[in-house]
Amino acid sequence: MTTASRSPMQSALLFAATAGLALGAAHCGDNDSTSTKGCPEGGSTSNAGAGGTGAGGASAGGAGGTGGEAGSKTVISSVEDKSVRFATFKADCQERGGFVQTHAVCSGNNACKGVSFNKFDFFLTEHTCSAMNTCGGMSCVVLPEDAGRTPEEMYETSCAGCHGLAENGFVLYMPPGTDLVQALADVQTKDREFIHSAIAFGISSRSSNGVAAANMPPSHKVLSRAEIERVTEYALELPMTAEEYGILGVNEEVTPE
Ligand code: HEC
Repeated sequence: MTTASRSPMQSALLFAATAGLALGAAHCGDNDSTSTKGCPEGGSTSNAGAGGTGAGGASAGGAGGTGGEAGSKTVISSVEDKSVRFATFKADCQERGGFVQTHAVCSGNNACKGVSFNKFDFFLTEHTCSAMNTCGGMSCVVLPEDAGRTPEEMYETSCAGCHGLAENGFVLYMPPGTDLVQALADVQTKDREFIHSAIAFGISSRSSNGVAAANMPPSHKVLSRAEIERVTEYALELPMTAEEYGILGVNEEVTPE
């Protein structure tokens, strides 16, 4: 991690943390009223702060610290910064070991601790857990600390159940109708960040007839960013075959007994 020069986002957050500012950020409603499970800091007791933590939510625990008391969701700092743009936000997020999610409107979701930027009021808010994502703008979802897992271990526990055991090679699943030869070539040349982000947040999509597909679960509460990068390299180096995933009545039929 380089600290030679500080980006506007880091400066703003550092400023807010050292000054002990506790400006309330505008949040959407509580999108995570049922659970915060999986968040590294816990935080499952209450969502009371989600609708407007307001003053008092901040902890001057120092920039970069998690600052969260167990069992609570805490705004570490919240400060107006009109200079924030996607590229700087993304670079800072990467330094924090996170991935960016964007929110068109009040589309906060259940991602864990990180930083959110609200494009309507320009507030940059560092927070410890979910239900603090922003109301239109972008979030930096910070992933867990690196647990030092090897690619082999991670692949076996987090990937092999779907993509097949390493010794049998990696099975790349593609929607019915995909050119599989092309898909095998494409996955190797695809921007790695596209794949890392797909593993972090999972793959869900919608077909042309509007049916939703939830195909790969998110790993951002389990693996660190570096672990995702390591397991991706490992997976892409395995012998690979591509298969269309089956949808009954589309490319798969049942034969009545
Ligand atoms: C629950 C099953 C499941 C698990 C677990 C899973 N995947 Fe996937 N993965 C899928 C499916 C299904 C697709 C295809 C999704 C689609 O394109 O609609 C996919 C797609 C991919 C792709 C292609 C992405 C792209 O952009 O084309 C890669 C690479 C991948 N997975 C790697 C991994 C790795 C590495 C892990 C472990 C950390 C993992 N997957 C865990 C089911 C899974």
